[in-house]
Amino acid sequence: MTGKTRISPVVRVAIVLMAVMVVSVSGHDYGDALNKSILFFEGQRSGKLPPSQRMTWRKDSGLRDGAEIGVDLVGGYYDAGDNVKFNFPMAWSTTMLAWSVIEFGEQMGPDFQHAVNATRWATDYFLKATSVPGRVYAQVGEPYGDHNCWERPEDMDTARTPYAVTTQSPGSEVSAEMAAAMAAASLVFWGVDGSYAAKLLSRAQTVFQFADKHRGSYNDSLGSAVCPFYCDFSGYEDELIWGAAWLFKATKAPYYWKYVMENSPNLDYYKLKTINSLPNGGNFAEFGWDSKHAGINVLASQIVMKGHNLTGDFVLNADKFVCSVLPESPTKSVSYSPGGLLFKPGGSNLQHATALSFLLIVYARYLSNANRVVQCGNVKATPDRLIQVARGQVDYILGSNPLNMSYMVGYGEKFPQRIHHRGSSLPSLDQHRQHIGCKDGTPYFESSDPNPNQLTGAIVGGPDFEDRYNNSRADFVHTEPTTYINAPLVGVLAFLKGQPNP
Ligand SMILES: *[C@@H]1O[C@H](CO)[C@@H](O)[C@H](O)[C@H]1NC(C)=O
Ligand SMILES: *[C@@H]1O[C@H](CO)[C@@H](O)[C@H](O)[C@H]1NC(C)=O
Ligand SMILES: *[C@@H]1O[C@H](CO)[C@@H](O)[C@H](O)[C@H]1NC(C)=O
Ligand SMILES: *[C@@H]1O[C@H](CO)[C@@H](O)[C@H](O)[C@H]1NC(C)=O
Ligand SMILES: *[C@@H]1O[C@H](CO)[C@@H](O)[C@H](O)[C@H]1NC(C)=O
Ligand SMILES: *[C@@H]1O[C@H](CO)[C@@H](O)[C@H](O)[C@H]1NC(C)=O
Repeated sequence: MTGKTRISPVVRVAIVLMAVMVVSVSGHDYGDALNKSILFFEGQRSGKLPPSQRMTWRKDSGLRDGAEIGVDLVGGYYDAGDNVKFNFPMAWSTTMLAWSVIEFGEQMGPDFQHAVNATRWATDYFLKATSVPGRVYAQVGEPYGDHNCWERPEDMDTARTPYAVTTQSPGSEVSAEMAAAMAAASLVFWGVDGSYAAKLLSRAQTVFQFADKHRGSYNDSLGSAVCPFYCDFSGYEDELIWGAAWLFKATKAPYYWKYVMENSPNLDYYKLKTINSLPNGGNFAEFGWDSKHAGINVLASQIVMKGHNLTGDFVLNADKFVCSVLPESPTKSVSYSPGGLLFKPGGSNLQHATALSFLLIVYARYLSNANRVVQCGNVKATPDRLIQVARGQVDYILGSNPLNMSYMVGYGEKFPQRIHHRGSSLPSLDQHRQHIGCKDGTPYFESSDPNPNQLTGAIVGGPDFEDRYNNSRADFVHTEPTTYINAPLVGVLAFLKGQPNP
């Protein structure tokens, strides 16, 4: 846990005034949204559901995952609206859930235990996926077969092929991200279940060593099973450094900090420039399931600022990240829709709004603790300003937008009704016991009826650049929820819920 933020009385008055302003304008119930954002993960569960399951239209599924090769790979999360377990993005979502609890768990109230359980649902599965030394299971489910069908997870009869990376055919990004997730989660569990925390931390270190000593991309080792679905565009170096940074935070072992310091200069900060095709773009501006750069800089900045040693490029690059986001910054590289939503290239745009908002809020706290502001050219960005920008994104997502529409299922009066999600759009086993085969789901997919099962808390890809939204199930770019859209928002909502009320 980080220390308490030191806030001067003047700033405190300003925060309260801002809160009054924002609440009277938007009036969002961040606590309700937090509750729902975590509930969503229950809808994505694979495996044997526990008696505490609240999203009861979902049932047990994937109970034989791994059985064909004699390995228990039951559990984990379905990634999005399909039924594949893509461990690379799943691991990042888990790291973000854990980081949310580490930073903001104290503000979660009764949702703390739910957030811890949501983290554990993934880490229990990662412990299984990494139980054999020198081998990491990177995915379960043959993606082409899965995507060809519109089936409930409970009915799945497509190939549940397990894919592994090994010392011979490595996958440093997927392995190092799992190490990061387990290291971060160990920090969540010390106060909850110490022996579990120790187990996660020990496994994280073993898996990190495997990722580092046997370097390579799962792109090359697993080919078309993982790419074009979750290609590792940004290389695996960022996951190795990110994994080491989390291991340093979790162990305090100098070895990991040395690793971070020695390897960070090798990160090619301008490699992504051509993808962004924006003059101020660069890896320092990227954060998501693929690129960890801005997250590394923010995380390492905390460590550096705590030590009052501003050497290294972490603070510089974290500042540059902030300047790439703020609307008034002269070096902004993101775009904003007329309604104020942040946009970056690629699909599922809300993933950027949630992930970048998380970093803004976390960095604002670190800056406050260090009594710093960010300077973007001649524009000064205070911690409060960073928080205000993040809050603006959250308010947009929750309904303060030109359509007056919430992009979180089940929150507010108007929200997405026909999300691109197999389980949500097909009748529950409670209503329809009989098996619904691969193509038998097509009429449900094509129906213009609202989805019968509410995937409460799911945040979809979101509106287009003109703030429009079509509510069309086929339009997966805009109407599909994913675990990596939701995970960072869990922390952001806990923070906003904990802000002073007028
Ligand atoms: C979450 O919301 C549900 C439904 O409104 C409510 O029953 C439950 O008490 C809430 N849980 C928490 C932890 O706030
Ligand atoms: C968390 O998980 C444990 C173990 O499955 C369960 O006993 C408990 O009820 C869960 N807590 C909540 C709040 O769901
Ligand atoms: C993975 O594949 C994508 C798509 O072909 C490519 O752009 C990327 O550079 C590859 N990444 C690595 C680390 O080889
Ligand atoms: C600051 O960090 C750098 C890089 O790790 C190190 O070389 C230097 O000795 C540190 N300075 C202080 C004052 O600790
Ligand atoms: C959204 O709400 C505002 C304020 O209540 C109203 O003026 C506007 O017409 C609404 N827009 C739509 C598209 O419903
Ligand atoms: C909605 O449909 C219109 C017309 O087909 C299209 O131009 C627009 O891009 C779509 N918007 C979204 C968010 O899908």
